[in-house]
Amino acid sequence: LPKYRIVVFGASGVGKSALTIQMTHQCFVEEHDPTIQDSYWKEVALDNSGYILNVLDTAGQDIYRDLRDQCLAAGDGVLGVFALDDPSSLDQLQQIWSTWRLKQKQPLPLVLVGNKCDLVTRAGDAHTDAAILTHKWGVPFIKTSAKTRQGVEEAFALLVHEIQRA
Ligand code: GTP
Ligand code: MG
Repeated sequence: LPKYRIVVFGASGVGKSALTIQMTHQCFVEEHDPTIQDSYWKEVALDNSGYILNVLDTAGQDIYRDLRDQCLAAGDGVLGVFALDDPSSLDQLQQIWSTWRLKQKQPLPLVLVGNKCDLVTRAGDAHTDAAILTHKWGVPFIKTSAKTRQGVEEAFALLVHEIQRA
């Protein structure tokens, strides 16, 4: 089966681990145990074909920046995660991605993920800013909830499609 390495990155506390574990183990992790780096494997079916995903869950904490950048460099595609209830997490994501991308020669498929959609009732500031950013970067944007599982499989599927298009 084709294998894709997917790197999940973004600010601390936005739900990278919760999304990863919801995708790979179908459960929601309530507590925030800050990640250094974790790797998961998951077989998925998409468009009637099977794939193996290696999901690298990275650290949001800035002290582990070098480790995160190594993961990004090893990825076939990346999920850039922010939290819809925390507009500053979108700024942090933008900062990480812009800085990292400046140093790269090859483009890397990216899907912008607005997580914790269960916590926002209306489309708020972060949502509007994400819509602008997704337009500027020319990448897909999807809203997810690691808690309710809304959009979780779709986010990974979108990224696989982006990888295949690249
Ligand atoms: P670092 O590893 O420090 O970078 O953080 P992280 O991005 O991996 O965050 P983590 O997945 O640990 O989630 C942080 C907190 O947010 C936890 O308490 C999660 O239960 C909670 N959380 C994550 N996703 C969601 C979501 O979609 N909805 C709600 N309500 N809470 C969420
Ligand atoms: Mg984590």
